[in-house]
Amino acid sequence: MNIILLGPPGAGKGTQARHLVETRGMIQLSTGDMLRAARSSGTEMGKKVAAIMDAGKLVTDEIVIGLIEEQLTTQTGAGFIFDGFPRTLAQADALAALLAKLGQSLHTVIEIRVDDEALVDRISGRFTCGGCGEVYHDKTKPTKVDGVCDNCGSTEMVRRADDNADSLRTRLMEYYKKTSPLIGYYYAKGDLRPVNGLADIKEVTASIEAILG
Ligand code: AP5
Repeated sequence: MNIILLGPPGAGKGTQARHLVETRGMIQLSTGDMLRAARSSGTEMGKKVAAIMDAGKLVTDEIVIGLIEEQLTTQTGAGFIFDGFPRTLAQADALAALLAKLGQSLHTVIEIRVDDEALVDRISGRFTCGGCGEVYHDKTKPTKVDGVCDNCGSTEMVRRADDNADSLRTRLMEYYKKTSPLIGYYYAKGDLRPVNGLADIKEVTASIEAILG
């Protein structure tokens, strides 16, 4: 079962993807995480995308399609969760072609709907464990012990360089200009299933579970 988690920055795509990985053994393909890994390992591509990401702009279709193609052809498991991909119509067409080439298809596109105002709070309070990638929030999902990851015990907590007001404005603009047309695209294909992303994390999880069965 291959699914897309679609939604604006801070909607909760990564949070819900991690749950599906843990409970269903699915493989999370987050283009954001892949690009951040390329940056920290200092590859040529990582250096090329760093400034674009910090400004909140989208990196080129060619780069992210290449990253996804590499993962699709080298990983196997109980289905892929596309988190933060596709983000443009060209990426959506490329994904359909890649899946068809592998004899696979898309099961569902889950649109996580959240108001813009809530996104600012979500993004400004987010921090991530540097050890295992667990996503936290200062108010809605703090660690049980201050500064210690509940999941792996690491004390390395990271805040993203693009989680600031200026960059968020650009990320939202990019979302509305280039990514939101995908809502109509997948609706027309009959693949779109919206969930209320304003509910608390566990309720959103339950809505997604109900859709996936
Ligand atoms: P990416 O890493 O994909 O960032 P994003 O889409 O902006 O999404 P986020 O990771 O910010 O949010 P999320 O929806 O995963 O929310 P989360 O679960 O963390 O992309 C970063 C950059 O990389 C892009 O700007 C671009 O430059 C580049 N890029 C990536 N993919 C690309 C592509 N395909 N094409 C071109 N460029 C690409 O949750 C956020 C916070 O809210 C957390 O603190 C969490 O604890 C909290 N939270 C989650 N759910 C709830 C809830 N229900 N209630 C209360 N709090 C909640």
